[in-house]
Amino acid sequence: MDSIKPLLDEICLELRERREKGQVADYIPQLAKVSIDKFGIAVASMNGSLVTAGDADEAFSIQSISKLFTLTLALGQVGDRVWERVGREPSGNAFNSIVQLEHEQGRPRNPFVNAGAIAVTDIVLGGHRPKEAIGDILRFVRFLANDDSINIDRFVALSEQAHGDRNLALAHFMKSFGVIKHPPAEVLGVYFHQCALAMSCRQLAQAGLFLAANGRNPLTGFNVVSPNRARRLNALMMTCGHYDGSGDFAFRVGLPGKSGVGGGILAIVPNKAVVSVWSPGLDANGNSLLGTAALEMLVRRTGWSVFG
Ligand code: DON
Repeated sequence: MDSIKPLLDEICLELRERREKGQVADYIPQLAKVSIDKFGIAVASMNGSLVTAGDADEAFSIQSISKLFTLTLALGQVGDRVWERVGREPSGNAFNSIVQLEHEQGRPRNPFVNAGAIAVTDIVLGGHRPKEAIGDILRFVRFLANDDSINIDRFVALSEQAHGDRNLALAHFMKSFGVIKHPPAEVLGVYFHQCALAMSCRQLAQAGLFLAANGRNPLTGFNVVSPNRARRLNALMMTCGHYDGSGDFAFRVGLPGKSGVGGGILAIVPNKAVVSVWSPGLDANGNSLLGTAALEMLVRRTGWSVFG
């Protein structure tokens, strides 16, 4: 890991100078306020070492990366019954698309598109009050990262709520097919808060370590999921974690990864490390433009792609 620090500094320096940085998400007004010049990267290894560069200690909105954590939570709660409501196939559509839902009886293609994540949040809600479910999610993420200072940015949650018509439409549509059970407003209240989790690259990398280590967090020694479930979560990240850009991410980076419109990406290097990167400018698919470029550079230099 000693050689990683100069490499991260080099990547940070090179990418900060790029003129084309993508577009900051503006459909959630609070996210549009974030400076496009932010750039952070962190690598957490299985032996507990952590190497960072740039703005790696600044908390940002993890947005869709949270879908990985709520999926893990839902699988812990109801096991494979999750798959009665949500599929496991790439969608080939935008993250917030509604078109497939009508053809497929309201059953979302996978747990990472918005519709699928909303259905997973409905499972986590599981008869509780929304506040309790939000508390469960926050506690779970703090447990994963071994860091109790992690919080939810309520301004981001409210900002998304005020502009959440499309997600509300997805939820109502799924409710009409019986795919979600709770009132759409309650499910989305929880969903907007999970997306508004604020975490730094450092905290994210630590939270993802269980996926690199066959389900066991090497920092705390806790078994989070079985090795089999960790393998499957990584498979879903590889095939669906970047929406319609998942094929391109596999081609260029070759790691299981999950992106968010806050500009973060969490990438897993099985049996080695976790990389998290943050650059708020997005590409046309809603994935971090420079974050993807950073991972591509890192993987090329380290040989960390799962494809060799
Ligand atoms: O529901 C939304 O639109 C956002 N809270 C999350 C979308 C997202 O992060 C897509 N990822 N790239």
